Amino acid sequence: MAIRKVRLEDDEILRKMCRPVEVIDDKIKELVEDMIDTMHDQDGVGLAAPQVGILKRVVVIDLYDDKGPYVLINPEIIKEKGEQEVDEGCLSFPNKFAKIIRPEEVTVKAIGLDGKEFTLKGKGLLAQAISHEVDHLNGVLFVDKIIPGTMEIVPKK
Ligand code: NI
Repeated sequence: MAIRKVRLEDDEILRKMCRPVEVIDDKIKELVEDMIDTMHDQDGVGLAAPQVGILKRVVVIDLYDDKGPYVLINPEIIKEKGEQEVDEGCLSFPNKFAKIIRPEEVTVKAIGLDGKEFTLKGKGLLAQAISHEVDHLNGVLFVDKIIPGTMEIVPKK
């Protein structure tokens, strides 16, 4: 259990393609635990492995309801439906927020920490988080998709 350093916007690791996880070993389990701790420490709703410098297809999401945290290993979006305009940020861009279009509904197939495949269907904020985090695994960042003119830069405290 440890909090890892979150890579910030200019770090080129955020632009790299992540590799699938082949074996869920102790190293992956430790990575997942640390990612959950790091996400909670920063009050984030999601975190992808490249944000802590690991180029593996691992995502954690927590909406702080009674269902999370979700652990998605090798997630694959199998269906998207509709559109929603949302306010978005990212732990790698701590002072930037913008409006963006995300799918309203996302169905993702992934492997859990137990090695079993499952399907998760998310609407609203969960769909947004899945879409945002899976983008990270492909080197895509929310700043690539913002609606022009909606970026807000919040001064650091
Ligand atoms: Ni992000």
